[in-house]
Order: sequence, then structure tokens, then C-alpha cells
Amino acid sequence: GAFDLTKNTKICLLSDDSTLNYSVRLFNGLLDKSFGKPLPVIKSTQPEAGAINVRLGGLQPEEYTLNIRPDGVDITGGSPAGVFYAFQTLRQLLPVAVARGEKAGVIELPVAEIADKPHFAHRGGMLDVCRHFFTADDVKTFIDILAMHKLNRFHWHLTDDQGWRIEIKQYPKLTEVGAFRDRCNLQAEADAPKDSVPYGGFYTQDEIRDIVQYAAKRFITVIPEIEMPGHASAALASYPYLGCKGEGYVVPSTWGVKADVYCAGNDSTFRFIEGVLSEVVELFPSEYIHIGGDECPKINWQQCPACQQRIKTEKLKNENELQSYFMQRAEKFLAGKGRKIVGWDEILEGGISETATVMSWRGSAGGIEAAKKGNHVIMAPNSHCYLDYYQTDKTETEPKSIGGHLPIEKVYSLDPYEGLNADEQQYILGVQGNLWTEFISEFDHAEYMLLPRLAALAEVGWSYDNKDFDSFKKRETSLARLYDAYGYKYAKHMFPADSTATDTTK
Ligand code: ACM
Ligand code: ZN
Repeated sequence: GAFDLTKNTKICLLSDDSTLNYSVRLFNGLLDKSFGKPLPVIKSTQPEAGAINVRLGGLQPEEYTLNIRPDGVDITGGSPAGVFYAFQTLRQLLPVAVARGEKAGVIELPVAEIADKPHFAHRGGMLDVCRHFFTADDVKTFIDILAMHKLNRFHWHLTDDQGWRIEIKQYPKLTEVGAFRDRCNLQAEADAPKDSVPYGGFYTQDEIRDIVQYAAKRFITVIPEIEMPGHASAALASYPYLGCKGEGYVVPSTWGVKADVYCAGNDSTFRFIEGVLSEVVELFPSEYIHIGGDECPKINWQQCPACQQRIKTEKLKNENELQSYFMQRAEKFLAGKGRKIVGWDEILEGGISETATVMSWRGSAGGIEAAKKGNHVIMAPNSHCYLDYYQTDKTETEPKSIGGHLPIEKVYSLDPYEGLNADEQQYILGVQGNLWTEFISEFDHAEYMLLPRLAALAEVGWSYDNKDFDSFKKRETSLARLYDAYGYKYAKHMFPADSTATDTTK
């Protein structure tokens, strides 16, 4: 059987929460072109026959049930986020013609009884907008892609050597100077026009507020990343007093780890970091702020009198402990603003506070170590989660990539609990796919790297204890039709040769 959805089908809200409207508006936006009008929305205390009845109650916050019967549709969410995920599932059941915006009289929704809840609380995607810049609209498309896969965290990598991308009012040179480099350096296209002219861009605070709102309406929290103490060349080029040498910095157009990092001896560095973070917490309501911590060479610190003095004064053993001092000083500042930190797994090296969350990227080892210590962990091991890696070993037929080899089966096989006993597993907050963009300068290329591997990661996040790659493959084949309808570019390695060529739905 089926439920006949028409332009007169009512959406009946049985719970009073204004954020239910986020889901309703987006769903109506999907139907707008097909029906020529939004579905009527009413509030009621009683479910209505023949309506899409929406209510809150009795479930975990992100959990939902979706029952489609010939005489009506019932959606229950543990919170408005759960209701949102129910509508995302409903969206996947709509005919592709509707996603394409074609006119429809009656849309048949197949009878179904679905109960679903995510295994992990943190289900994220990271976009690096520093190595290449993506417009605010591109960023919203990234968020749309997260939302359709029921991911709930957008890790926005906003500062790095090759570009500072967030407007900071107290430090205008960060974007006047630090947001631009002398060329794009997309080595895949050595003679491309962008490679010989200055390249860059940044987001104004208004754009950022708009994006944070856009994400919130999709129940996605934006976690900004402000890198320290390494990956700081763009900041040093803007304000040379922030580095140990105090001069001679440029925003590099080349990739790789840079030796120039923030000086950890100079108090003015910390005034700067606190000034930046003060504006960051005003823009981002997220409980967590990511403060980087990866790939910080210590060579300048070894030679810098101020850094060496700091080691003595603070009775630190070495430069690794100096990095811990740096991170913990930023952490204390943020704690004073009611926020927690996330850092890449290098933050373990000189010792970490009990309250820091570790994002494990050099494989899972750092995450395992942190969980055993009782620190929270987000698993994003490069072995399974680096979506900038090649999708196949036939690299000659692929767009140039940073390297690696990460077929979708490998993403799907991620075990975030690997090496942990039941007690330690509680510290694993979740999983994340990371898209670094050294060799990605166009958003459709980003889509190609994300899809469908991000879908595999989303399934690790939702269905950890109920994974089945063959079943995933079937469902992903129909999800790919939605990618087609929305014009998302995606990789086709996992699909049988002809599966995406013919549209078997109406
Ligand atoms: C990283 O990939 N450097 C976190
Ligand atoms: Zn120094």
C-alpha cells in the first residue's frame, strides 16, 4: 500500500516547539515546485486523519519513528532534531521527479514503519577552506550534504598557513593580508589562470552568522577551528610580532608543514589568541571550539629566548610541554567563556588536561590512548576518514589528489571502538570525515570526493552495531538518484556500471 501525498495533505503539529518549523519549511521547500504551493500546516492536540502528524516525545533526542500508512503519516521525534531526521528519511522516499522539481498531482509514499536512532552523538564533516577558498554558498551546499546524510557537526577549518578565512574585527590585517597569497598553486593545473594571480578570500562576520543559522536550521552545530600554535603562517604574515623571529613572514602558496609558528614565550601572542577567541565564541554557539594543535614544529621555539624563558619560568621539561602550556592556556580562556576544546591528537604529546577532547587523525592510536586516559575522543583516522585521499588505486584516471587510497568499503569498515573495552568505549563521542583541499579548488570536485564516501561514514555514525555493506550499497544506489536530482557530483566506483544510468522510479 501507499499514502497519497497531495497538495492538500496537512502537516499537523501536535507539539508546541517553534523549531519544528525548520523541518516543516524545508520539507515544504522540497514540494513547492511539484505542488505549486506549500502543504498547509496546522496545530492541533489530536492527530488528524489523512495528515502528516508530527509530535515530540518518549524517545532519545535524535531518535525518531516514521510510520507511513494509507490513512496517514506519523512522525515522532525525541526532539525537533529527531523530527528533522524523520523528514530527511521521508525526503529519501519521495520520487526523484519531485527532487527534480517536476509537477506532481499525487505522490505515493510507500507504506513503511521506521524506527531509527544514531549510535554516536558526534557525526561530523570537516571542510578545509584555507588551502582553497569556498564561497558562502558552497559552504551552505556542504551543510546541505551533511544534513541529507543526518550528520550533525560541521567542523569548519578556518585558519591555516595558506589563508586566514574569518573576519576578526580587532585584527583586520588577518583578512586584509592573511586571507590572500600570491597564487593559487593548484598543481594539477599548473597553467591555470588562478595559478599566476593572487588568490584568496574570507568570510565576513555577517556571512558567518548567516551560515551558523543556516546550519542550526538543519540541526547542525558548526565547530570552528582556529589553529594554534602551528599552521599559523597567515596570522604571522598579518602580525609578524606573533612569531619568534618577528619578521619576514609571507602567506605561503606551497603545501606542507611550515616551521614558522606562534611564539609561545611572548605574552602578546596570548593576548592575540584571546582576542581572536573572544570574537569566535560570539559568532559560534558551539559548546566545542577546535584549537588545532597538529603538526607544530618546535625548531623556532628551541632557538627563541622568549620561548626558552617560558620553559624555565613554567618549569616545563621541553618544547612538547611548551605546546601543552600553549593549548592549556587557550583552553582555560575558553573554559572561562563556558566552552570546551577539541584538538588534534598531537595535543597528547606534552600532556593534556582532563577536559580536552582529542580528534584522532594519525590513525586511531591517539584516540585509543586518549580514551584509555578518560578523555573524550572524536575518531577521524586518516586511514578511514580522509576524504581527500584517492578513492581507487587507479589513480591515473582520478583527479590529482594528496595521495592515500581510501575506497568506500574501507570508510564503511571503520570501527571507532577498535582497541577499547566496554568501559573505555563511552569516551568515543563519534566519527568525522575530513576534506582537506590542497588539490581541490572547485566545489563540484569537493562533492566528488565527499560522495558517496560521506554516506558510508554517516552509516558508521548511525548504525555502528548494525552495519551491512551490501544493504548499504543497495540503499546508496537509490540515494545516488537524489544526488543526480540535486546536481551533486559523486564518485561511481561502488555502483554497478549501469545502475545509475536508468531511473527506475517515477
Ligand atoms: C591533519 O591532518 N594535519 C590534522
Ligand atoms: Zn618564541
